[in-house]
Amino acid sequence: MVTRSGGPEVLELQGVPAPEPGAGELVVEVTYTGVNYRDIYERRGGYGHPFPVVAGIEGAGRVVAIGDGVTDAAVGDRVAWNNAQGSYAEQTVVPAARAVPVPDGISDEVACAALLQGMTAQYLTHATYPIQPGDEVLVHAAAGGAGRLVVQLAKARGGRVTATTSGGEKTVLARSAGADDVIGYDEVPEGRFAVVYDGVGAATFDRSLASLRPRGMLVLYGAASGPVPPFDLSGLAGGGSLFVTRPTLVNYVETREDLLQRAVYGRVAEGSLDVRIGGTYPLEDARQAQEDLESRRTTGKLLLAVHPG
Ligand SMILES: NC(=O)c1ccc[n+]([C@@H]2O[C@H](COP(=O)([O-])OP(=O)(O)OC[C@H]3O[C@@H](n4cnc5c(N)ncnc54)[C@H](OP(=O)(O)O)[C@@H]3O)[C@@H](O)[C@H]2O)c1
Repeated sequence: MVTRSGGPEVLELQGVPAPEPGAGELVVEVTYTGVNYRDIYERRGGYGHPFPVVAGIEGAGRVVAIGDGVTDAAVGDRVAWNNAQGSYAEQTVVPAARAVPVPDGISDEVACAALLQGMTAQYLTHATYPIQPGDEVLVHAAAGGAGRLVVQLAKARGGRVTATTSGGEKTVLARSAGADDVIGYDEVPEGRFAVVYDGVGAATFDRSLASLRPRGMLVLYGAASGPVPPFDLSGLAGGGSLFVTRPTLVNYVETREDLLQRAVYGRVAEGSLDVRIGGTYPLEDARQAQEDLESRRTTGKLLLAVHPG
């Protein structure tokens, strides 16, 4: 539960009544829930909604109850979901339309780790800027949960990928994802890239723009270092008729068809997408997990184990 806006200390484990499904909803017993930057933005008060609120929006688990009108899920089904508030919990309500069936052969742990960041990497590389073979691509924070998947899908589309990390083990992880070059943030060249995938935000924005070739696109998909301040659009002309977009996943999975098509479970099952779980914490250690994520200590995806089975 996020009791008020603030640092990790405002997260508290509290008992609440068991949820009931409304029409079109499922109640799911959560096995794993994912830790995301959006949970941190929310906890800091960045979404402007009232507190207290149960944190978390993503997870995997088993359906324990279904509401009226649900026809394509049944009690006992294994599902994963994104965008269902209250997922840091033993049980949570998930709109049936947002539940993605988990195929046999994919564990709940991997299903949870792969869904949100996997769909994000998919839409960024296939829809926001559909990478063409030979495109020069820059991916920031390439050892992170999202970044490492963006690198892999950018390579799968034929891009030539330059990745940034803060160094050490993260460089090795970015390279193992397939990056052609791995560099530091202050080594980014100017005027080269067709597209930059930037989830770091304030700290990288100016350099990201400068690194684009004429008519290149800056895909600003997050703000791990803080939000980008207002900027002068005329700079896009001076940089070479540049494009900037600020996409969010929800607009790329508006239909059920898009949701199921962007879930990357097929690639995970066939072994062509490597999902790295950087840490799994018990639910009661959610504070620690968020602290670790925002302090830049982590790699890959962080999970909270609730009923790991
Ligand atoms: N728009 C969308 O649809 C969408 C969906 C999912 C996630 N996201 C965004 O994707 C980004 C990555 O999320 P994630 O959960 O996968 O996190 P993550 O990449 O695992 O962690 C963030 C990484 O950013 C790098 N970083 C650079 N400067 C930083 C700073 N000042 N403070 C903190 N981190 C810094 C760090 O890697 P180094 O140490 O290598 O620099 C850090 O490990 C976030 O911005 C998130 O909001 C967006």
